[in-house]
Amino acid sequence: MQIIDGKATADEIKKEIAIEVAEMKASGQKTPHLVAILVGNNGASETYVANKVKSCEELGFNSTLLRFDTTISESELLDEVKKVNDNDDMDGLIVQLPLPDHINPDKIMETIDPRKDVDGFHPINIGRMAKGLPAYISATPQGVLDLLERYNIETSGKHCVVVGRSQIVGLPMSILMQRNLKIGNCTVTLTHSKTKDLAEVCATADILIAALGRPEFITEKFVKEGAVVIDVGLTRVEDSTKKSGFALKGDVKYDEVAPKCSYITPVPKGVGPMTIVSLMKNTLLSAKGVIYSK
Ligand code: GUN
Repeated sequence: MQIIDGKATADEIKKEIAIEVAEMKASGQKTPHLVAILVGNNGASETYVANKVKSCEELGFNSTLLRFDTTISESELLDEVKKVNDNDDMDGLIVQLPLPDHINPDKIMETIDPRKDVDGFHPINIGRMAKGLPAYISATPQGVLDLLERYNIETSGKHCVVVGRSQIVGLPMSILMQRNLKIGNCTVTLTHSKTKDLAEVCATADILIAALGRPEFITEKFVKEGAVVIDVGLTRVEDSTKKSGFALKGDVKYDEVAPKCSYITPVPKGVGPMTIVSLMKNTLLSAKGVIYSK
């Protein structure tokens, strides 16, 4: 059994990005610039956005954090998005989710210029991804692809079972794993809350990707001997022994599942650290005009 070290892989990719950004600056090219919009002060969102801004600093990117009170109206937020769309210095825009109930996230996502949609949530990017055209791939699924690639895990012809059909992870993950590209060519089963005999279905997976957001749901009986297990879950559970008052739990009951696996990602330090790196990579691609020409 080999542990997939997402932290080490993320650090490696970060170094590569930082070198490239330094070279771009030295040759007079523009500095990649990521803009994050944060509405309200949801604890997890605060942490995620702070980490994104910190990563920008570490890698030599410019960043702008636009904060708004939860009282901002949908039309006011749409205007803020449009301002970023129109600002040529700004390469990437993320609007941190979840948004307050009175704001329709789909409306916001569809208003972000697809050329700046480094989260890969715009229907145009999702459609282009599905067709195998150049597109921004959302950060967590891209992080999973990068881990599979860097660990030389064979995916072609394998049965990949994805648990969870969220727009952010499960759905794009299932599309990506079946594409006819280097990482892909799997036979994919996308499972969800209505799937019958979930454990039995999962136990047929060569590659099991758990993204359902239920801590330690995937136990030993869900996993075939020798499977690759990717745990995308990251749920805060109360833990009075921790200074923060909570612990982060994955979707996989690690101690029980790990001995059966050929490869497994831990939580923390598995998929999590890769997510921000993917976002940075997308922002760099935007600054360079790789996916959509400038
Ligand atoms: N909320 C949870 N994950 C994400 C993400 O990847 N991007 C944004 N914008 N919001 C999120």
